[in-house]
Amino acid sequence: MTVAVSVSDLTKRYGSLVAVDHITFEVASGEIFGILGPNGAGKTTTLEIMEGLRRPDAGRVLIDGIDVLTSPREVRSRIGVQLQEAGFFERLSPDETLRLFASYHRRSLPAHLLLERLGLAEKRHARVETLSGGQRQRLSIALALLNDPSIVFLDEPTTGLDPQARRAMWEIIEGIRRDGRTVILTTHYMEEAQRLCDRLAIMDHGRIVAQDSPRALIRAHAREATVVLVLEDGHLDAARLPGVSRVDAQDGEMILHTGNPQQTLHALLDLNRLGVVRYRSLRVEEPTLEDVFLHLTGRRLRE
Ligand SMILES: Nc1ncnc2c1ncn2[C@@H]1O[C@H](COP(=O)(O)OP(=O)(O)O)[C@@H](O)[C@H]1O
Ligand SMILES: [Mg+2]
Repeated sequence: MTVAVSVSDLTKRYGSLVAVDHITFEVASGEIFGILGPNGAGKTTTLEIMEGLRRPDAGRVLIDGIDVLTSPREVRSRIGVQLQEAGFFERLSPDETLRLFASYHRRSLPAHLLLERLGLAEKRHARVETLSGGQRQRLSIALALLNDPSIVFLDEPTTGLDPQARRAMWEIIEGIRRDGRTVILTTHYMEEAQRLCDRLAIMDHGRIVAQDSPRALIRAHAREATVVLVLEDGHLDAARLPGVSRVDAQDGEMILHTGNPQQTLHALLDLNRLGVVRYRSLRVEEPTLEDVFLHLTGRRLRE
């Protein structure tokens, strides 16, 4: 793997609070790398240090081998940073916004190409104040791509978007990777991290508690699947079924945690065949990053 970004032993304190606590990771060229964690985990602070916007108390960030602290200008021409939408001028159009920001860069992609690419062609000359949340977010991505960067930083690119706009944003981010760029994003949506990221670091209280591909994290930390069922009639002593380690109830469903879903399912079907119970519904759910986070921190990572 070609290393695009290398972060070593990074630490940042705000007074007595250790917001980023000795974290180390590498991002490969051309991948989507995620930093997943709840609010306050230290994601934005980490990103801002990587972008050269904030000074760490200790540690080092190399972008394409270049030290962010000692060569900020060289780094800036290689990275794209998503502008928080608070920074928009409401009365300018997307086209004017891109042209304005292009003047800050030595080199930039044509505004009309970027707007087309991000599905903003029709809104090109409309005032920014008339854009929807999703459109504003896409404009902020256009700004991040303006200087044709090899590495793009996105801080919670889908927070606050409705499911449809979120899905559209995922496709845009995958398109950025297809163009050969490296994407580093933060999120507190585990579904997003699981669907989008090639690899990710799970962050909690300033520390990285695990990092790998979503699949490998699930394999290593959340081996238990769940069998979810609703009884039509009969009585089920689920805790005694083979494989079952724990039984929960939620929203009228019985949730069986099992280290051996096949064995558990067999037993459930046998009971049905024998006429002991009937099921209104019965399904197996694979473990998710949510389970990984729960296993690692003892807490849920909820929206
Ligand atoms: N400028 C600041 N001054 C003091 N504390 C801060 C500042 N910025 C962030 N923090 C604190 O640092 C911790 C990490 O914040 P942040 O990096 O924004 O996390 P995240 O992006 O994961 O929500 C939080 O407890 C936050 O309140
Ligand atoms: Mg943040």
